[in-house]
Amino acid sequence: MTVSVGIDKIGFYTPSLYLDMAELATARGEDPNKYLIGIGQSKQAVIPPTQDIVTMAANAASQILTPALKAEVAMVLFGTESGIDNSKASAVYLAHLLGLSPKTRAIEVKQACYGATAGLQLAADYVRVHPQAKVLVIGADVARYGLRTAGEVTQGGGAVAMLVTADPQILTLDMVSSYHTEDVMDFWRPTYRTEALVDGKYSTNVYLDFFKTVWADYQQQTNRTIVDFDAFVFHLPFTKMGRKGLRQILPEAQPDQQKSLKAAFEASQEDNRNVGNLYTGSLYLSLLSLLRHGQLTAGARLGFFSYGSGAEGEFFSGILQPNYQRGFDGAALTTLLAQRKRVSVAEYEDIYRAQLSNDSRDVQLPVGEEVAQYYLAGRQNQQRQYREQ
Ligand code: CAA
Repeated sequence: MTVSVGIDKIGFYTPSLYLDMAELATARGEDPNKYLIGIGQSKQAVIPPTQDIVTMAANAASQILTPALKAEVAMVLFGTESGIDNSKASAVYLAHLLGLSPKTRAIEVKQACYGATAGLQLAADYVRVHPQAKVLVIGADVARYGLRTAGEVTQGGGAVAMLVTADPQILTLDMVSSYHTEDVMDFWRPTYRTEALVDGKYSTNVYLDFFKTVWADYQQQTNRTIVDFDAFVFHLPFTKMGRKGLRQILPEAQPDQQKSLKAAFEASQEDNRNVGNLYTGSLYLSLLSLLRHGQLTAGARLGFFSYGSGAEGEFFSGILQPNYQRGFDGAALTTLLAQRKRVSVAEYEDIYRAQLSNDSRDVQLPVGEEVAQYYLAGRQNQQRQYREQ
């Protein structure tokens, strides 16, 4: 008998600062509605130098790992575009910070915004073969395009942590999925750069084309059609992108279903609208947002479109489980988002420039205002100094 495998728990972390998108629009000489409606973003996470992908991942993972679970994690698969080292995996730093058992396998997975999906599917296959195993999958990034660039409004950052197990509480993954790879230069980041290079309009077109391709292939493989779905969850670099994706397939549904799919989309974009782009974590923040704000019942089939520039697309699906509400702490997430401090555009620009420099100097970061459990205190002897409070 095949074991049912999928997402048992989800944790999420984003730093304690945000920038208001209407304020940014005004500062950049744009109509605020371009950002609020045209792009579909209201707030953007601002990442202080004291947070990086490792600390954000630790802050997300610590929400879902009890001491007993920490001892049981067989593997850590860390999806990220914002790696902090060209050799050593962020998963190794993370495993140490969290106090995981040394009997764990810890690696980093890279393919732009697709890394966490690769991690999730590899984890699911591993658990199908080893049903007792628990795998920690991370999607953590700092989405960084540059001050006064077209991509600036689509920045953000944070981490999603998922525990993949047999008989999961939140979602069982269907075994079938459809994926597609093409060598496309829509978004990339050479190792000498801290900001992505992007052909913005082209990237949005490739996203939509890839969605069309994998959705058609998935339907062919499964004989399922849109009527078999209760909601679609999209990679959301900005919320308008997923809205365009959904619009592409809505005509395949009857009017009643169109209404419910649109309502589910509104729920799925709510939290992303207030955090911004997490690159590889965005799809899974959108899932969390749907679970928090949507009206789904157990047994619902959800469709997922994952996209990572460069480019890789995947469509996969899963079934919502009866106790899905127990798999995440919705109240903690509401508090995390509500307690963030708004920074002005000038403060955001200062913080943007204050990131840990790309050189070998020793640095002590201003950690006095840091409220997160895990943070970065600086760099000594070319080693990042991670701390827990
Ligand atoms: N009121 C309402 N809407 C307005 C408006 C106003 N006053 N002014 C403009 N708009 C609308 C425009 O009509 C447009 O809507 P449509 O796309 O529906 O036509 C929207 O606002 C955006 O306007 P522009 O196209 O003029 O915006 P832009 O040229 O400044 O750039 C962008 C938009 C290309 C997305 C840019 O922000 C960018 O390059 N972002 C980074 C790349 C990106 O996120 N790509 C997504 C796919 S790649 C991916 O998914 C991987 C990843 O995470 C990086």
